Amino acid sequence: MDYQYQAGFGNQFLSEALPGALPKVQNTPQHPPYGLYSEELNGSSFTAPRDRNLRTWLYKIHPATMQGASVPYKGNPDLISNFFDPSNTQVTASQLKWSPFEVPSDRKIDFIDGIKTICGAGEPTLASGLAIHVYTSTSNMDNKAFINSDGDFLILPQLGALDIQTEFGKLLIQPNEFCVIPRGIHFKVNFTETPEHQYRGYILEVFGGHFELPDLGPIGANGLANPRDFLYPVACYEHIENVEYKIIQKFQGELFETTKKHSPFDVVSWHGNYLPYKYDFSKFCPVGSVLFGHLDPSTFTVLTCKSNTPGTAIADFIMFPPRYISAENTFMPPPFHRNCMSEFVVSLLSSSDYGKSSFSPGTALLDHNMVPHGPESKEIEAEMTRKTDQVVRIPDGNAIVMFESMFQLRTTKWAMNVSNMINKNTHGHWNDIKIRFDPKNININS
Ligand SMILES: [Fe+2]
Repeated sequence: MDYQYQAGFGNQFLSEALPGALPKVQNTPQHPPYGLYSEELNGSSFTAPRDRNLRTWLYKIHPATMQGASVPYKGNPDLISNFFDPSNTQVTASQLKWSPFEVPSDRKIDFIDGIKTICGAGEPTLASGLAIHVYTSTSNMDNKAFINSDGDFLILPQLGALDIQTEFGKLLIQPNEFCVIPRGIHFKVNFTETPEHQYRGYILEVFGGHFELPDLGPIGANGLANPRDFLYPVACYEHIENVEYKIIQKFQGELFETTKKHSPFDVVSWHGNYLPYKYDFSKFCPVGSVLFGHLDPSTFTVLTCKSNTPGTAIADFIMFPPRYISAENTFMPPPFHRNCMSEFVVSLLSSSDYGKSSFSPGTALLDHNMVPHGPESKEIEAEMTRKTDQVVRIPDGNAIVMFESMFQLRTTKWAMNVSNMINKNTHGHWNDIKIRFDPKNININS
């Protein structure tokens, strides 16, 4: 399949699948080219400051209004958006850990029906909060599309590549890549072949704001995720009439369905800056300590969804990439800590020669805010015998990602009772840590 892209985070793009399909100069000519209809999609309020103003103009075969009435959709009871609702959620103060979520082998389940919510905060009607989902799927969406009124989806495949068709064009998302589909955009997910037809990944959904690149401060103008490496689709329409296209809409956390008698992917041309996009982790340019000590995990931020408090995120999307670790005389595992932020960590990829630990690919971990966590005893013992002047290279093909949030996260009852929940209280893993304190032995090198 042919995928074409244009590059540059947040740019104003224009694209046309037929020559001259994009009106020149004005957005709403009386007679758009080829008999198309003009339609605007706003991703920010009309009066948002210019540097945060998001909108795109679409030129469509059918206006999006051409569809039937919405009725409740019953195909997925485990996609949760209201974390105030005690019938769906459960509070726990313990660290939680899940082995890779099982992909059903006995039935067909598409991307949308395969989404199960693990945890989150808030709910969408006040545009405040987030949700963290896993998807486990086995089949294509075919003549079915999804549109989300509630939040932006950041989609991370962990097993199997995604062929995503959007109103603005097509995206191929391999493991080691991710994409963002902002709210209000029709899309569907088909899968590229895996031998077992098993597909798994994670979704970070933010109910308020949008993802943006983090400020770099003293790092300067370059580094981390560079704008040129974010890829946007080009216009690619299909003109299919007299079909039954099912449209699933998430609205206020509820799912609804309606039908169109044509393909919703009928956008022949478009221009603007409110668009889906993708990114390849291998393009990430990490920074780190070059003599001693740790920098904070924030130095691995790929994208952030800012709150109104400076430097405090609704959600930071952080990726720990392949890299050199070169600090001397430093305890290298992540230090013991208690964080004012909540942390949801996923092992996405692990090469064969690295990471043979309890954190195998697909494993997920939730560290609540102010709940202590850190390295386990076997990591500590390995660190104590490591030659400290050795440079460590974390090999290519490894990726651990973290969603960090200012919100306290509430877990769904589904996630608390799912069979791959390893332990509802992993703190026992730390109780065999060797106590080294000796008042007669000062280490003068520290
Ligand atoms: Fe942490």
